[in-house]
Amino acid sequence: MAIQKVGVVGCGLMGSGIVQVAAQAGFDVRVSEVDDAALARGLARIDKFLAAGVEKGKLTAEQKSAIQGRIHGTTELKDFADRDFIIEAAIESLAAKHEVFAALDAVVAPGAIFASNTSSLSITELAAKTGRPARFVGLHFFNPVPLMQLVEVVKTPMTDGAVFADVTAFAAALPKVVVAAQDTPGFVVNRLLVPYLLDAIRVLEAGVASREDIDNGMKLGCGHPMGPLTLLDFVGLDTTYYIANIMFDEFKEPRFAPPPLLKRMVLAGWHGKKSGRGFYEYGAGQAR
Ligand code: CAA
Repeated sequence: MAIQKVGVVGCGLMGSGIVQVAAQAGFDVRVSEVDDAALARGLARIDKFLAAGVEKGKLTAEQKSAIQGRIHGTTELKDFADRDFIIEAAIESLAAKHEVFAALDAVVAPGAIFASNTSSLSITELAAKTGRPARFVGLHFFNPVPLMQLVEVVKTPMTDGAVFADVTAFAAALPKVVVAAQDTPGFVVNRLLVPYLLDAIRVLEAGVASREDIDNGMKLGCGHPMGPLTLLDFVGLDTTYYIANIMFDEFKEPRFAPPPLLKRMVLAGWHGKKSGRGFYEYGAGQAR
C-alpha cells in the first residue's frame, strides 16, 4: 500500500479515535496537539478505550501495548516531515485549518497526501489554498470513531484519481466501510442527518410529543440506536448549530435552517452531554 506512515493533527475526540483505529490496523502513527496537556488528554482517551477493550476480552494486554507502541505524540508539525499521509482533525475553523495545512505544506514531501476530517467546511476551499490541490481529499469519520463502521471519502474537482484510490484503500484497511462522496456541504450522511435532527427539534418545539416519546418513536419505530434528541446531545448542540448554519448558507433551503429552540439552547450554553445539559441532563456521564 502507498500509505504506511500516517500523521494525525489533533488528538481530541475525533483525532484520538482516528489515531487509535490507524494504530490498531498496524500503521505507524504520529499525532500532534497544541500543547503537552492536550496531547496527554488525547492519549489518555485512547488508553482508556483500549483498557476497556482488554477488560471486555476484545484484545489482549500485549495487543494493547503493541498498538500504543505504534503511536508517537508531538507538539511540533515539523515532526510530520516523513509522513505519507496526514489527516487533519483540528478545530472546525477554516482559518485554523488553513494555518495547519500551510505549515504542513512547508515541511512535508510534495508526494504526501493531505486529508481533512471536517464535517462541514469545503474540502475544495481547503485544498485550493495548499500547494497540492490534486493530493487532497476529505476523510470524514463518525463519532465514536473506533465503533462506527463508516467513513466518507470526499473528492473535489481537483482530486487525482490515484490519490482517491490510495485513501480509499487506507480507509478499507482500518477497516472501515467507505462511502465515496462529492464535495458538497454535509457530503452524504450529514446532508440527510442534519435536516432529520432539526425536524426532531421542530416536532418538540411544536409540542407534538415529549422528548422521551420523540426518541422512543425513532428508536423503537425505526430501529435507530439512539433517538434524535439523545443523538443531538451526543453530537453537541453547538456543533449541530454550526453545521446547520453552513448548510443553510450554501443551499438556502428552510430544512437546513436551525430552529429557534436550538439557537436559544446554544446561547444558554446547553451544548449537550459535554456541557452536562442539552435536551436531557447529565451527571457522571449518565442521562437523568
Ligand atoms: N473496546 C472494544 N470494543 C468496545 C469498547 C472498547 N473499549 N467499548 C465498546 N465496545 C463494543 C462493545 O463491546 C459492543 O460490541 P458487541 O456488540 O460486540 O458487544 C459495541 O462496541 C457497542 O458498545 P456498547 O454496547 O457499549 O454501546 P452501545 O451498544 O450503547 O452503542 C454507540 C454505543 C455505538 C455509540 C451507539 O449508541 C450508536 O451507534 N449511537 C449512534 C451514534 C451515531 O449516530 N454517531 C454518528 C454521529 S454523527 C457524526 O459523527 C458525524 C458528524 O459530522 C456530526
